[in-house]
Amino acid sequence: MRFLTPILTLAAVAHSHYNFPSMNGGTAWPNVRQWTDYYAFTPDTNVSSLDIRCNVNGAVAFAASILSVAAGSNLTWTASPDIYHPGPLMAYMAKVPTGKTAANWDGSGTVWFKIYEDHPTVGSSALIWPSMSATSVSFKIPAGGPIRELSLPVGGAQFYLSCGQLAVTGGGSGTPSPTVAFLGAYTATDLGILFDIYYPIPTNYQPPGPAV
Ligand SMILES: *[C@@H]1O[C@H](CO)[C@@H](O)[C@H](O)[C@H]1NC(C)=O
Ligand SMILES: *[C@@H]1O[C@H](CO)[C@@H](O)[C@H](O)[C@H]1NC(C)=O
Repeated sequence: MRFLTPILTLAAVAHSHYNFPSMNGGTAWPNVRQWTDYYAFTPDTNVSSLDIRCNVNGAVAFAASILSVAAGSNLTWTASPDIYHPGPLMAYMAKVPTGKTAANWDGSGTVWFKIYEDHPTVGSSALIWPSMSATSVSFKIPAGGPIRELSLPVGGAQFYLSCGQLAVTGGGSGTPSPTVAFLGAYTATDLGILFDIYYPIPTNYQPPGPAV
């Protein structure tokens, strides 16, 4: 069995990986957790490590600020320098528990719900994702979700991810589901992770993790 992901196929020739340093056009990192060695732009490659939650030590690399966003609006993440490697893009949110804020919570528990995933088209020589080469990506903040501070990681298949700290205003009282835990939502052999985008080109592709 080959362990071949979109990112790994290009990593050997790539100098520039990328990261997600800011939200809604703001400056980098005041409300996005600045994980260890973020400047190296390296992907996380280990789905069995806690780093899959918020990148290397990112679960506790608390940022000082919390960004206020309106339920139902789009949240835009900057990709720096751009989404250089092909792969799926997914976004999750989790409600911060009582007694904590988005600036001091580690995101533990079966609390993450997916709010966005994209899907590729089948090209002549590879799967093609809509986020390829994008310098920013947007996701709609659910309108019916709970009101409180939230965090949100964004990531590609091999695994470029950030956690942002959010306060959602004007939300509802809904209970999003299904929820998953990071660590635990992915395994290295998930069909959405262990696949080859080039040969044979998959005729359909389902991203890893739970349903949106
Ligand atoms: C992945 O992370 C787990 C947990 O920290 C560790 O036990 C394992 O050795 C790591 N695997 C690799 C290939 O680094
Ligand atoms: C808002 O996000 C959705 C994805 O949830 C995307 O399809 C749409 O293009 C975005 N709108 C804007 C104006 O960025």
